[in-house]
Amino acid sequence: MERKWIRTHKNTEISEKNLGEKVVLNGWVYKRRDHGGVIFIDLRDISGIVQLVFDPAFDADAHKTGESLRSEFVIAVEGEIKSRGADAVNPNLKTGKIEVFVNKIEVLNKSEALPFVLDEYHSVSEEIRLKYRFLDLRRPAIQDNFIKRNAITRTARRFLDENDFMEVETPMLTKSTPEGARDFLVPSRMHEGGFYALPQSPQLFKQILMVSGFDRYYQVVKCFRDEDLRADRQPEFTQIDLEFSFVDQDVIIGLMEKMIASILKEVYGKEVSLPFRRMDYDTAMTKYGSDRPDLRFGLELANVGAIAAKSDFKVFKQSLEMGGVVYALNVKGGACFSRKEIEDYTAYVGQFGSKGLAWMKVGDKGLESSITKFFSQEVLDELLKETKAEKGDILFFGADVPSVVFASLGNLRNKVAKDLNLIDDNKMEFLWVVDFPLLEYDEKDKRYIAIHHPFTSPKMEDMDLLDTDPLKAKAQAYDLVLNGIELGGGSIRIHTPVLQKKIFGLLGIGEEEAKEKFGFLIDALSFGAPPHGGIAFGLDRIVMLLQKCQSIRDVIAFPKTQKGQCLLSNAPSSVAMEQLRELHIKTDIKSKK
Ligand code: AMO
Ligand code: AMP
Repeated sequence: MERKWIRTHKNTEISEKNLGEKVVLNGWVYKRRDHGGVIFIDLRDISGIVQLVFDPAFDADAHKTGESLRSEFVIAVEGEIKSRGADAVNPNLKTGKIEVFVNKIEVLNKSEALPFVLDEYHSVSEEIRLKYRFLDLRRPAIQDNFIKRNAITRTARRFLDENDFMEVETPMLTKSTPEGARDFLVPSRMHEGGFYALPQSPQLFKQILMVSGFDRYYQVVKCFRDEDLRADRQPEFTQIDLEFSFVDQDVIIGLMEKMIASILKEVYGKEVSLPFRRMDYDTAMTKYGSDRPDLRFGLELANVGAIAAKSDFKVFKQSLEMGGVVYALNVKGGACFSRKEIEDYTAYVGQFGSKGLAWMKVGDKGLESSITKFFSQEVLDELLKETKAEKGDILFFGADVPSVVFASLGNLRNKVAKDLNLIDDNKMEFLWVVDFPLLEYDEKDKRYIAIHHPFTSPKMEDMDLLDTDPLKAKAQAYDLVLNGIELGGGSIRIHTPVLQKKIFGLLGIGEEEAKEKFGFLIDALSFGAPPHGGIAFGLDRIVMLLQKCQSIRDVIAFPKTQKGQCLLSNAPSSVAMEQLRELHIKTDIKSKK
């Protein structure tokens, strides 16, 4: 193509200031309308859309070529910028006051008929969109996600650079780091039977960089976790990962919320007030049934164990006798729920292990339900008072071990809020959840597991509890939550080999295993490790929430499906026998069911 067809402007760089000027534009045919002889085309490029006019009275040759144009043809045009008539102004377009009358056109490339109309992507399945991702990514709305993602990353990098963080790359072919998911493994050709693991996070390497005196590290880094996928989870995702030396929790939290505020200010022009709220883990669980409560709406839980103990309701009494708890969720205005809706909610909490969902509605005469007969009037009055229930409300009850009650009522709280339209989409409720327990007990494997990860330091004042009552020990760990989604999490680390070995011991990681898996960390901690701590944010989740996307797949250029496939490239796929042989691998072993 001749040089003269190279664009003079991007589509939205021209405006009514350029009236009468000749310009050359390049882009795709987005929409085409033939208005009795005059053809209008929306020309699209990365900057946006401008209207082209092919008028036989202006240029008959250009108009003739214009007739042959179809969706997604790539064209170059030369034309004159004219003002649109007042009634033709399009307020939704940046270039809505002008149009370009075309006098020359070259078709740079044609397109076959599209598998779906870009503008009507809602009418096709996500599978089709992912298969033709190169088309899907042409949609202006999805391109905006990537433009913002780039701006968010750029702002974070600039902020971290200004605050003396150094970006250091850590290996992708590495050894397993326990972040709680399964590893993706990569077989080694040179070491028969040996495997690398793709990093679940750079956790150990960033700690080692602190031991090496790097002081402040960050990295925008891919992490890999083979876990069940959800709307906010991908098997490969990106962290903004950081580590600091010579700091405490408050320094990290203080600086990180400034980073988030600077992203909101620079990318969205939004002011958020600092500091963000903080809530301890116990409060989050007992008030909201979740360690990542959505604070855009109320609907708090109430511990009604003491009141329930005074009733004759078997379900409550048995649960309490077995050391369980009874909590109530007061759904304001929920007395309107039908029997069917209540049944559906009961089925919903079943997936979190709940054996039922007792309820009472507040009607004209107070609490009404088939179970009120098991409660004296006095006890019912106490219930009303404790739950602050009023006429028109419904109380849902959970009676079980705390983990089941919190998971059931916490998730129910979110679901009911959505169903009753209680959530203001424009609200942004940031929250630091602090004072997590260090450990939890895994009933299945009969052992303690680290809630954050095994390198997290207990609170200094809780050190003695490690010997007496480990489950009571709190960790120096913190999560940042936005609107009920965990954006990031981190902790102050253990920096002495003695304490690290002790924690491995509690976690049932024997000396041999510790040496084999984490020997290099123990070694590093033995040679003058500074006190250090850090955090990692899920970049994809940040973009997803700030862009108000429903799925993390909308902010990842080439995401995987729920089943972990890339529909564009068809990965994962089988490989040649010869490749397997080189890697010393056989694939005919049946997995255990
Ligand atoms: P954590 O495991 O909490 O911490 O991960 C940090 C953040 O990464 C995001 N995230 C994910 N995003 C998308 N898909 C996933 N599968 C996924 N898994 C996690 C979340 C989460 O808050 N090494 C520690 C951090 C530290 O202690 O410094 C870590 O990885 O937003
Ligand atoms: P049942 O005695 O099983 O007929 O249950 C009476 C009511 O209590 C029903 O509404 C059940 O849904 C509810 N229920 C049963 N088990 C539980 C539980 N563990 N927590 C809360 N409600 C329950």
